[in-house]
Amino acid sequence: MRPRATCTLKVLFFILASVCAWYSGYLLAELIPDVPLSSAADSIRSFGDRLVLTAPTPKRQKCDHWTSCPPNTYAYRLLSGGGRNKYAKICFEDKLIIGEKTGNVGRGINIAIVNYTTGKVIATQYFDMYGGDNSGPMTKFIEGAPAKSLLFMVTHDDGSSRLNDDAKKAIAALGSKEIRNMKFRSSWVFLTAKGFELPAGIQREKINHSDNAKNRYSGWPAEIQIEGCVPREAS
Ligand SMILES: *[C@@H]1O[C@H](CO)[C@@H](O)[C@H](O)[C@H]1NC(C)=O
Ligand SMILES: *[C@@H]1O[C@H](CO)[C@@H](O)[C@H](O)[C@H]1NC(C)=O
Repeated sequence: MRPRATCTLKVLFFILASVCAWYSGYLLAELIPDVPLSSAADSIRSFGDRLVLTAPTPKRQKCDHWTSCPPNTYAYRLLSGGGRNKYAKICFEDKLIIGEKTGNVGRGINIAIVNYTTGKVIATQYFDMYGGDNSGPMTKFIEGAPAKSLLFMVTHDDGSSRLNDDAKKAIAALGSKEIRNMKFRSSWVFLTAKGFELPAGIQREKINHSDNAKNRYSGWPAEIQIEGCVPREAS
């Protein structure tokens, strides 16, 4: 073959190759779905994630429950104080209604009153049962709770030293089986309803007595908790 012909062939081959390359690029572009590059990258990444994580990440539930509450219920979690510095906490519908962060927790008995119809907090207060004579004000507070309200009670540190008989009577009248068993620094949590009945079978009360020989925090009892779901008012 003469050199000139070789050259022409080379040029022809080059043009043919270019057309082929362009055409295959064009085909690819047509075949790839019309999505922005970033989301295509995302889906590739999420596919990669799915390959790595065989189980889906657990979803965080209201009030840090393990399983979610059914629809039309309120989630709650009551935690007593533990040791000297772990403050009591009350969570309702995923909102901290009593706790250190909300600045409304203290030594003694901590109480929150919630409107059962709306789920809105009506009042919160703590009553020092060690340093002051607060049984009277606490009894008034409890008795002042309107009908159709939920009452949540948790101890922090000591809730018994100056808890008098009238106060115990008022709390027992709301269904507490343990209030009369309170001792120095017993941990106690209690949920009750005023003006209606809570369904049987939901966690309502727990107590643990301080025992210097066994306590997790020497002189202070361990935190205890109850949690669950309160069915909302049928509408
Ligand atoms: C609770 O909420 C309902 C509905 O808004 C209202 O009618 C009722 O008066 C409230 N109760 C209290 C004690 O605020
Ligand atoms: C209750 O307190 C005792 C020590 O007084 C402890 O051994 C026990 O584990 C506590 N129970 C709970 C549920 O915290």
